[in-house]
Amino acid sequence: MANNPNNIHPVLDRIVQREAKEQLLNQNARVFWMTGLSGSGKSTIAIAVEKKLHELGFLTQILDGDNIRSGINNNLGFSDGDRKENIRRIAEVSKLFVNCGIITINSFVSPTIEIRNLARSIIGDDFFEIYINAPLEVCEKRDVKGLYKKARKGEIKDFTGIDAPFEAPENPDLEINTANLSVEQSVEKVLNTILPLIKKM
Ligand code: ADX
Repeated sequence: MANNPNNIHPVLDRIVQREAKEQLLNQNARVFWMTGLSGSGKSTIAIAVEKKLHELGFLTQILDGDNIRSGINNNLGFSDGDRKENIRRIAEVSKLFVNCGIITINSFVSPTIEIRNLARSIIGDDFFEIYINAPLEVCEKRDVKGLYKKARKGEIKDFTGIDAPFEAPENPDLEINTANLSVEQSVEKVLNTILPLIKKM
């Protein structure tokens, strides 16, 4: 320890452990990571899922691209490097929540396999990938925030799906096709899958 080259000495074994916190909350913590194009429905589903979990007595935290980018990540843009740093910080923050026993619901475009692998490598086995899938045409037609229109006009550069890539997950833990399902159906499908994972036996 005296020779630690960075002079950093994490205190992990002396703090109250995650299991004790999960016991207190009567839940198993996980990170439910929603990936998908802008406008695919990630935030809508996250908000509705959280509301339902709250009613059922679970303690949750939503982490969302637009919110996080207004605060802790307000110095980051949309270059490859900045997106990577965005996701790295979010994954580290998610780990803090999960270690506190809290169910974390993330909605981030997280557009590449590499970027999601980075999140998975930081979070570990608690990472549960949900692909919120809607074709680009559908997202563009919805254009809730008017961003696709701006991107097509060249007013936003590097916009995911237009002039920046989106790589669909190859093997997500769950896939929700919001072009074919209603919000209610999508939320029900997510809840049916995640409830058995977060309920303490
Ligand atoms: S990520 O690619 O780094 O994971 P993140 O989820 O944090 O993205 O932020 C995406 C949100 O930022 C979108 O929902 C949209 O509202 C906004 N946004 C602004 N510019 C861009 C862009 N160039 N590409 C994608 N989303 C953008």
